[in-house]
Amino acid sequence: MRIAVAAPTGHVGRHLVSILIRAGVRPLVLSRDPAGLASDIRAEVDVAVTDLLDGDAVVEAVSGVDSLYWVDPPPAGDDPLAEYGLAAASAARAVTEGGVGRVVFQSSVGAEKRHGVGEIDGLAATEVALDHAGADVLHLRCGYFFTNLEYQLDAIRAGMLQVLIPVDKPMPWVSPRDIAEVAAGRLLSKEWSGRQVQAVHGPADLTWRQVAGIVSEAIGRPLDVERIPEEDMRSAMRGLGMSAAGVDSLVGMSTGFLDGFEPEQQRSVRSTTPSSLAAWAYGEFRPLLG
Ligand SMILES: NC(=O)c1ccc[n+]([C@@H]2O[C@H](COP(=O)([O-])OP(=O)(O)OC[C@H]3O[C@@H](n4cnc5c(N)ncnc54)[C@H](OP(=O)(O)O)[C@@H]3O)[C@@H](O)[C@H]2O)c1
Repeated sequence: MRIAVAAPTGHVGRHLVSILIRAGVRPLVLSRDPAGLASDIRAEVDVAVTDLLDGDAVVEAVSGVDSLYWVDPPPAGDDPLAEYGLAAASAARAVTEGGVGRVVFQSSVGAEKRHGVGEIDGLAATEVALDHAGADVLHLRCGYFFTNLEYQLDAIRAGMLQVLIPVDKPMPWVSPRDIAEVAAGRLLSKEWSGRQVQAVHGPADLTWRQVAGIVSEAIGRPLDVERIPEEDMRSAMRGLGMSAAGVDSLVGMSTGFLDGFEPEQQRSVRSTTPSSLAAWAYGEFRPLLG
C-alpha cells in the first residue's frame, strides 16, 4: 500500500511520518522543502518536492498513491480563504486526476458550520471538495492543537494571554501527536470506506482559565488569561500589518463559536485521545521558553 503524507514537517505530519515508518511503511512525503526533514527520516521516506497549492504538482506527485493524508497548509498571504481554495482544489484533483482512492483530511471542529468560522470555512470548503471527488474520505475534525500555544511565546513570557471567547468556556484541546496516531490507524486500516467524519478531541475539554493554570504549573511561571473586546484584538492584529481578510480569518475562528454552536460530533470513546496538556506543556513547551 502506497501512503502519501502532506506537510510532513508540520505539527501532525512529523509524528505521522514517524509512526508510519515504525509500522513498516515507507511513506511518500509531499514537501516543498525536503531540507526540513531530519536526515534519519529522509532515509526512510520517498520525497516528492511539491507545493500543495500547485494542483498540477500535486497530481503528478500522487501518481500510484493509494492513500493520502491531506493538510491544507497554513495560509501565508493576505487572503487566507483564497489559499484554502487552492488547497481544496489540489486535494480534489489528487483524487479525480491523480487517482488516489482514499484520503484522510486534517479538518477542524467547526467545519460542519461551513460558514462563519474564519479560516475554518476554508477547511469546510476542502471537506466539500473532497466529498464530491469520489474517493473514500475521512474528515478528522480536530480540537484546538496544544501547539497553538507556541504562537504565544511572548504573551506567555509576559504572564498574560488575551483571548476573544469567555475564559470559562470549555473547548477540546488536543495533542497533534494523538491526531497523527488516529490518522495512521485509519490510513493503514482496510476496515472503512465511503465518507466518514471523526472528531479528535484530546483527553478533556478545557477552558482558557484551566489552560493558563495547567501551563503555569508546568512551566513554573505565573500565567493568567483575560478576555478582550473583539475590536481591541482586531486593532492589535492590524497594528502587526495583517490584512483585513487575515484579521477576519483569525478572529472568526473564535467568534464563530459564540452563537451557541453545537458540534456535530460529541465527545465519545472514539474521539477522546490520551495525551494531556500538562505532559505536553512540561515536556515540549517549557524548553521553548528558555
Ligand atoms: N492549529 C489548530 O488548532 C488546527 C486545528 C484543526 C485544523 N487545523 C488545520 O491544520 C492545518 C495546519 O496546521 P498547523 O497550523 O499546525 O500547521 P503545520 O501542520 O505546522 O503546517 C506547516 C507545514 O505546512 C507546510 N507547508 C506550508 N505551506 C506549504 C505549501 N504551500 N506547500 C507544501 N507544504 C507547505 C510546511 O512545510 P515547510 O517545511 O515547507 O515549511 C510545514 O510542514 C491548517 O489547515 C489548519 O487549518 C489546525
